[in-house]
Amino acid sequence: MQSGMKAQRILIIGATSAIAKATARLYAARGLRLHLIARNEVTLNAVADDLRVRGAGSVSTSVLDVNDFDQHEATLNNAVEKLGGVDVALICHGSLPDQLASEKSFELARQEINTNGLSVLSLLTVLSGIFTAQQHGTIAVVTSVAGDRGRQSNYVYGSVKAMVSTYLQGLRGRLLADNVHVVDIRPGFVDSPMTAHLEKGPLWASPERIAAIIVRSIERGRHTVYAPFFWRFIMFVVRSLPDFIFKRIKL
Ligand SMILES: NC(=O)c1ccc[n+]([C@@H]2O[C@H](COP(=O)([O-])OP(=O)(O)OC[C@H]3O[C@@H](n4cnc5c(N)ncnc54)[C@H](OP(=O)(O)O)[C@@H]3O)[C@@H](O)[C@H]2O)c1
Repeated sequence: MQSGMKAQRILIIGATSAIAKATARLYAARGLRLHLIARNEVTLNAVADDLRVRGAGSVSTSVLDVNDFDQHEATLNNAVEKLGGVDVALICHGSLPDQLASEKSFELARQEINTNGLSVLSLLTVLSGIFTAQQHGTIAVVTSVAGDRGRQSNYVYGSVKAMVSTYLQGLRGRLLADNVHVVDIRPGFVDSPMTAHLEKGPLWASPERIAAIIVRSIERGRHTVYAPFFWRFIMFVVRSLPDFIFKRIKL
């Protein structure tokens, strides 16, 4: 970690997600202390029990629907108090919008923008205050390669992830003087409940593979991380295509 301190206290938001669960298991196996935040209390308790069995130093939990913006500050302050400080915060919740339905209904699009975007910015606002006050630690956020370019089949999700990634770029610079590091994790296709309805292929990765990349990237103080690595090259090509070609590609 950039602060030179070994991570001991881990805060995970969206802790019932497949990627978050796999990441938490890696931290639990090291005996670290975890605080988990998710909206489904039953699933959250099951995840917490699993992590205790796997060797976590301690596991505490808070229930939060991330669209309850009014609850963000109290929930995060309470979580960090329970942990006794925080070395790593990972934001991992998200939803994959029905693109066609979101094109027709802005109300639906707005819900997705709140879940994937504005909730993250709100949580980051509170977290950056907490990390600035303690002058160390790492904030990691799971965004997506979808934010690298707006595809016609997925641009509601992609544009919101792009907003978060751009926000993180600025936040990283702002928090540098406070010894706080910011990591943007951009997975490609991951085989999780979010994508259960999609056909899988050779580019797909398991949540466990993404989790190992997340833990390693946080430890090594990486900035923008494509997960797995080959997405960096794929997205370079995708970003390089001129608009007059890209707009004709049914992606
Ligand atoms: N899967 C992929 O191909 C892929 C690719 C790139 C990026 N990502 C990103 O990776 C992250 C994790 O996704 P995943 O693949 O692990 O999918 P997942 O297992 O479906 O996890 C999504 C999580 O988000 C939570 N969530 C959704 N709305 C919420 C709300 N309003 N309040 C609180 N929690 C909420 C869900 O909680 P419930 O269980 O209660 O519904 C679930 O735990 C997301 O940010 C996603 O955008 C995924």
